[in-house]
Amino acid sequence: MFVLGIESSCDDTAAAVVGEGPRVLSSVVASQVDTHRAYGGVVPELASRRHIEAVSFVVHEALERAGLRLAEIAAVAATRGPGLVGSLLVGFSFAKGFALARGLPLVGVNHLEAHVHALFLEGAPPAYPFVVLLASGGHTALYLVTSPYGMELLGQTRDDAAGEAFDKVAKMLGLGYPGGPVIERLARSGDPRRHPFPRPALEGAGFDFSFSGIKTAVVRRIARELPAAEEAVADLAASFQEAVVEVLVEKLLRAAEATHCPRVAVVGGVAANGRLRERLAAEAEARGVEAFLPPPRWCGDNAAMVAAAGLYLARAGRFCGPEADVFTRNG
Ligand code: KG4
Ligand code: ZN
Repeated sequence: MFVLGIESSCDDTAAAVVGEGPRVLSSVVASQVDTHRAYGGVVPELASRRHIEAVSFVVHEALERAGLRLAEIAAVAATRGPGLVGSLLVGFSFAKGFALARGLPLVGVNHLEAHVHALFLEGAPPAYPFVVLLASGGHTALYLVTSPYGMELLGQTRDDAAGEAFDKVAKMLGLGYPGGPVIERLARSGDPRRHPFPRPALEGAGFDFSFSGIKTAVVRRIARELPAAEEAVADLAASFQEAVVEVLVEKLLRAAEATHCPRVAVVGGVAANGRLRERLAAEAEARGVEAFLPPPRWCGDNAAMVAAAGLYLARAGRFCGPEADVFTRNG
């Protein structure tokens, strides 16, 4: 069975074709980063317009690169939510029209579940159950995953998402958008112990996160003296990154311990962070826990993960009709 996947929940227009395995036959991502960079973040209205311009091209490119005839596609899977309503509507409506015109069944995919399916695209996947940390620009949450569609929420952020904190701190430092990759690059030459930023929510026993305290501490530090020298900016970036990474890794491993689960995983855009990957590998090994991370290219938004999640749903016959609508929030 081959599934065409379409993703448009935020600022990436993506399409992919995935076969059994799941095996990725093609994956195309049209990024809107250049459009939103000038604003220091995603502008929803601009995002929907860019999706409209790109979606048809991206889908046809994915089909062509897969080298399949259209008749070989068994289902169309598209992200239904959560995400930006205007962005979601473009991809999901396109998928509906495409499925209707070709007489194909339509599958609506949850974007957060799709991120978890990125773990199964390449390399050895984790066995069930495992605890997963989803850390992206819009979400930061911990789940106990017991089956392809059994995800129990253990905790989530009470304020900013981890990726959002990276983006906001980068904006304050005048480093541009998206913040994660640029902060990671600068942090490599900085001293992570220079500024002892708080590690919020580590004192509590629960699994909720909070990143606004770290962000505020950076704001206070900059208010006293906006760093001009590259070295000082690098120290701020490294100290900020270290605080966020420590909280993420520690909470994930505590959740594994509390649920007696010997396997953990991290997915979502922030999972591409090298320091997070390095620190998780070391800490997990020290505690006898197996850690799984998708290769960086499957961490950020893509449609291969959507198609892989769609493949499961299609096999289970969980299709949706033309009346199905998008949703902006989970639950
Ligand atoms: O999963 P994603 O592509 O989109 C959402 O569903 O939100 O995640 C994007 C987020 C952005 O906030 C971006 O700054 C962050 O992931 N990110 C990173 C890195 N690469 C992307 N954060 C830290 N380090 C990185 N290397
Ligand atoms: Zn995402």
